[in-house]
Amino acid sequence: MKKVITYGTYDLLHFGHIRLLERAKELGDYLIVGVTSDDFDKVRGKINVQQPLNERVQAVQNTGIADEVIIEEYEGQKIDDIIKYGIDIFTVGSDWVGYFDYLKEYCEVVYLDRTQGISSSQIRDEKRAINLGMVGVPPVLLKYSRECSYVNGVNIKAMCTDDQENYPKNLKCDLVTSDYEVMLAHVDAVYIHSDPVSHYEQVKYALEQGKHVLCESPIALTKDQTKELFELAEKKQVVLMEALKTAHSLAYQRMVVLIKSGRIGRIVSVDATCTSLRDIAGDDTTRFAPKWNSLCSWGPTAMLPVFQILGTKYKEKSIISQFAKERENYDLFTKIDFIYDSAVASIKVGKGVKSEGELVISGTKGYLYVPAPWWKTDYYEIRFENPANNKRYFYQLDGEGIRYEFVAFARAIHKGNTINRISRETSETISSVIEDFYCHKDMKIII
Ligand code: CTP
Repeated sequence: MKKVITYGTYDLLHFGHIRLLERAKELGDYLIVGVTSDDFDKVRGKINVQQPLNERVQAVQNTGIADEVIIEEYEGQKIDDIIKYGIDIFTVGSDWVGYFDYLKEYCEVVYLDRTQGISSSQIRDEKRAINLGMVGVPPVLLKYSRECSYVNGVNIKAMCTDDQENYPKNLKCDLVTSDYEVMLAHVDAVYIHSDPVSHYEQVKYALEQGKHVLCESPIALTKDQTKELFELAEKKQVVLMEALKTAHSLAYQRMVVLIKSGRIGRIVSVDATCTSLRDIAGDDTTRFAPKWNSLCSWGPTAMLPVFQILGTKYKEKSIISQFAKERENYDLFTKIDFIYDSAVASIKVGKGVKSEGELVISGTKGYLYVPAPWWKTDYYEIRFENPANNKRYFYQLDGEGIRYEFVAFARAIHKGNTINRISRETSETISSVIEDFYCHKDMKIII
């Protein structure tokens, strides 16, 4: 019996896939189809596969062409499968010519002509394209638009920036303007990375126009404003998402569920530090640089693990800040302690102070350690009294989590809901802490 194997993503199964499967089957007597579990096609650099793995597997099974469907889970699996299943022929479409020649050592490799004029990417682009606008300073626009280019079905249509002079020449989009309203008129959704003081008005205006919003955290500077914006989004049936890239890093997500599973016991302390002496928007001295003080720049990121692990119902808090003399409301450094019924947390954030940017979560059985910079990590460790029980965890992190944030935003828009990695309660609590900072509530100032 001649055994044939082929692999693919098979997202939004189409005629091109079926023709490929039929011809693959004709090459032998028994056809195995490997459906890839990954939603990121690294070779072609596109993410945003629309269907979950089980739906894609089901769709291939429903064609009735495959004798067996397997899941491709790791790099190098093709060689293992060829040996394990005793494969005679490996086949894929001609878009891969040459790429799999290394398998010739193990079996015959056949490239079948690809069906012209159809592809999953094309269907995704046509059916689901979101026209996105971005607001921010040029370095931010450049970085985020680069990340966005990895996401299938999101097209950057317009940019809004006051700093037209420094707008990168290589960044092409239909419209570049300093007029926010004009930009909004050209798009379905907007990513906001402006001065935090402007967030509330900009988010509100966009939601009122029926646009979906992804806004860099904090969404607003008071709890009531954040609450009001979420209510407005609900009323307008559009998505409002807080942008915190760390929430989209796989290592961070896995770390939170590991903690919740009780692996290091009951959590007694969460300590997060985030500092930088420069930020993406430059040295802060240019005329257009947004006013991201230490707490707005880093506070939401540092508070994320605190609220996601210990919850938002802390009993007390105390804020200690040191301010820059020459700039109003600009904290060089802030430390916040949160006291819960049976746990404590502390965050240290700074844009005028440098420290070790680590995250330590202490439990009754052991502790979890994420090295600096923990907010864009691909690695963490759990450590115990007996070092023999220590364990290290590694995960792939592409683009600091930003591209996955756009994928999550696009999915929320398509699915018509606001299911989010950051709960509304977490967003509101982040804003309430920032509000207290600006009102100097529960606060001490050091000079
Ligand atoms: N295929 C084909 N003809 C097409 C599209 C795909 O023969 N028009 C083949 C591919 O060469 C591959 C298999 O179908 O062997 C699975 O392809 P997959 O990558 O899942 O689908 P694409 O439509 O190519 O997806 P994308 O647009 O994301 O690249």
